[in-house]
This record gives sequence, structure tokens and C-alpha cells, in this order.
Amino acid sequence: MSPAILDNPLREGLEQTRASDPCVMVIFGASGDLTSRKLVPALYELAEANLLPANFAVVGVSRTKLSDEEFRTRVTPDGVESHTNWHNLVKGFSYLAGGYDQPETYQELKTRLEELDESLGTGGNRLFYLAVPPEAFSVISDQLGAAGLSEPGKPNAWVRLIVEKPFGHDLDSARKLNRELQRVFEEGQIYRIDHYLGKETVQNILTLRFANGIFEPLWNRRYIDNVQITAAESLGVGERAGYYNQSGALRDMLQNHLMQILALVAMECPISNDADDIRDEKGKVCRALRHYTPLEVDDNAVRGQYGPGFIEGQKVPGFFEEPKIPADSRTETYAAARIFVDNWRWHDVPFFLRTGKRLARKMTEVALTFKKVPHRIFDNGSGELEPNVLLLRIDPDEGISLRFGTKMPGLTTQIRWVNMDFQYGTSFARPSPLAYERLIHDCLVGDPTLFTRADSIEACWAAFDPILARWSDPASGAVPSYEAGSSGPREAETWMEDQGRYWRKL
Ligand code: BG6
Repeated sequence: MSPAILDNPLREGLEQTRASDPCVMVIFGASGDLTSRKLVPALYELAEANLLPANFAVVGVSRTKLSDEEFRTRVTPDGVESHTNWHNLVKGFSYLAGGYDQPETYQELKTRLEELDESLGTGGNRLFYLAVPPEAFSVISDQLGAAGLSEPGKPNAWVRLIVEKPFGHDLDSARKLNRELQRVFEEGQIYRIDHYLGKETVQNILTLRFANGIFEPLWNRRYIDNVQITAAESLGVGERAGYYNQSGALRDMLQNHLMQILALVAMECPISNDADDIRDEKGKVCRALRHYTPLEVDDNAVRGQYGPGFIEGQKVPGFFEEPKIPADSRTETYAAARIFVDNWRWHDVPFFLRTGKRLARKMTEVALTFKKVPHRIFDNGSGELEPNVLLLRIDPDEGISLRFGTKMPGLTTQIRWVNMDFQYGTSFARPSPLAYERLIHDCLVGDPTLFTRADSIEACWAAFDPILARWSDPASGAVPSYEAGSSGPREAETWMEDQGRYWRKL
């Protein structure tokens, strides 16, 4: 076990209170990128932290033909080959090649699972992980149902299903997918993953709000002027151009990851820390989102596509120079929207959401800007009195800071703005668990708190459908462009200035 992990009280806490039952994890899409880049490294970290059950096996399923040994080699994270914990973990990995729509695949899987129950004592508990393209989600779920694998075969055993993103591409498709999954699995068995919810700093939003008495009285329309939620990336669409061109920034990031953050910022205090009490409150926020008419979309959302430019001194290509992007693509690589939560707490407080590829830098944060003082008694020369800002930094440099005015030392009253800062890195000097590590562990122990429920997903889509519909209509005009390495399209800046506000600097 690495010292960092030994030092981590969260993991020690998990170890003591939330041990998982023996089980087999079946990964569909096992030869793919997500499995080797995220899922297996997360399993390895869990093994290092002693958080996997002793009787644990992985069966990888994919169309690609691979032997068990080839599968193990393919998913080995860098630098762990000689570690004992890796050896112990990987010896429980096996592979099964088969088509997702072929009943034989599932018959073979069933036999394999029964053998593992017998040889390893995995007790009939199964976690199915769908790390496959979305068109395969219901195909696999139906086949699992037909093979009798969606229900526990033994008393007290459990069967759970993790579904990767994207969950639908609009309201209709999300509803259809929910119906298809729910005809085979109970809602309580379905874990829809949003890896932003696995980030330590995102989880801390609820702790900050509800474990402290001083913020909540100010956390409403009376004191807050606006909330900005930004997830900027410096990377381009790269090798995922094919997928991205179908998706775009709004579907890829805004409707899911940024909306999940918004829900945590805007929700009421749940009656307890239980999964459904929290998810009920998040669901109410999603249901209170204002829906726009097509013309209102033009006033409330801005998009863009990146052109060539420079990032960290390197020349980078524009969106249209990326492979597989058609010359007439209208897919946005930048999306910003003004969202309203129509309830008593938030009525008329704008939530500005913004995300984009090839922006100046990687940065994810939530900034709550408070209203300015009602009456000014200090003459600050030509300087304006700034508002207070509570900043939740999610990535990088995770932490929280509060910006406030203070008197500069001297014989006159000159006010300067300073930050009171908390940094995870220096305060705890311990790394946070990987998002996937946290989420896989939660599913293994049957805690769905950090997974999205069918009702919230559908309510979010209902609010974003009008924006998607408007943007896909050529009558909505040309898609503005922005230079790679900048902070987005000029149109987004002027849109904010017209509202008497400004985007926080990237
Ligand atoms: C994924 C998106 O869900 O999140 C990617 O599909 C994006 O396009 C990624 O790059 C960002 O995640 P993170 O954790 O790096 O902020």
C-alpha cells in the first residue's frame, strides 16, 4: 500500500465501514480505451487501499478476440507490473470474446459466472459495467435479461448495472433508454455514472453548505448576484472527433457534468445524507429549470467553434482541421448558457454555465458572486467597490477562497481586495481518490448517492432540448469561431458585458 493511501482517512473510513461483498465485475467494452485508462487503474487503487473484497474477479467482454493473457497485458497500468497487489488482482481477470447481440455470448458468460461463484465464492453478486458505445446499452441489457442474468440467482445476492455516458442525446432518447433499461432492471439496480460526481471537490460542495452554519443564510437570491460554473479545457477533440461531432459541448459537458454541479449548488438541504434524500433535492432543482422558447435561446445561450491558435506555445489545429470533422459541421466546441432555477431561493439569479475545448487552460470552478454593498460609505478613489466572491476550485489547485475588501495600511482609507484561501493540497497533503475509484467502490457497496437518477436526467434534458433544437436550426445563424488558446468567442464576452457582468478570467 502506498504511503499516500495509508495516510488517507477517507479510505481508512471506507475500509472500516463499507466493505463490499464478494462479487464478479463484468466489463462490457473491455478492450476499449475507458477500461484501460480509467476502470482498471481505479480497481488497482481500490486493491492498493484494501477496499476490494477478497473474493473478487473481473470478466472482460468485447468483440475483439483476445486471450486472457492478452487482456491482462492490455489493461496493465504503467509501472505496476511488479507490484504484489497487481498480481493478486489481475489473476482474477479473464476475458470472453463475443458479439453484444449474440445470445451465445451471454450463455457463455453465465457459465463463466457460475464457475467463478463455485471456485471463488463470489456468491452470485454481479456488477455489470457498460463501457460501450450508447447504441449497445439496451442491446446488452436486453440480452442480460433474456439470459436470466439481470436478477440475482441466489438468495441475498445482488445484481447492479453501471451505465456510462452519454445517457441519451436528447429528452426522447433518454426516456427511451430509461424505459429500455427499466424493463429489465429495477431503477435501484441502475447506476448512471457521471464522473464529475466522483470528484472530491464536487462532493465537498454539500459539506461546505451543510456542515457549516455561516454560508447557508447567505446562499440565496437575497445575497447572491450570480453563479458562474466553468469547465474549460485546453485539449481539442483529438481522436474522439467522430463522437464529438455528433455530440458537441452542450451534450458532452454542460447538460450533464455542469448541471450536476449546479444541482449541488442550488439544492435545498436534504432531510438526511441518504442517497434518495439527496437525489430528491437534486431532482427538484432539475425540475425547476426554466425552459426557453426558440427565440429566448438566442438571448440565453452562446456557442462557438475553435479555430487554429497556440496553447502553451504550441501551434494547434482548428476544429475543421481535425480528422473526421466535415467542412459544414455546426457542432459547437464551446457552449455557454444562462440558466434560471425558478423557485423561491433562486428566482431570477442567473447561473452562467460555460465549457469549451481548446481554451486558454484547463480549469473547473464554481464562483458565487455576492451582491455589492447597498450603500457606499468609502470613497475608494476611482476604484469600484468589488463584490465578494466565494470560489470553489474543482480543478486544478483544488480549494476554496473568499474574496473580500480590506483597508490598505496607511493614513487614508484605500480599499484593496484580498483572498482568504484554503487549498486541499497544503491542508491535507494527501491525494484525493480517483473519481472512478470512488464511484466503482460506491456501486460495489450499493450506495447510489453519487449516481444520477432517471428523473433528474430527464428533467435536465427537458430544459436543454430547446437549446439543442434551436442550435440545430440553420435559422439560428452561423456558429461563431474563437482562436484556440483564447477564452472563447468574442460573442460570449459581449453577451456578458451587455448584461453588465463579465466572465471570470481563464
Ligand atoms: C468527459 C467528456 O465526460 O469529460 C470529455 O466526454 C472531457 O470531452 C472530460 O474532456 C473532462 O473530464 P475532466 O475530469 O478531465 O474534467
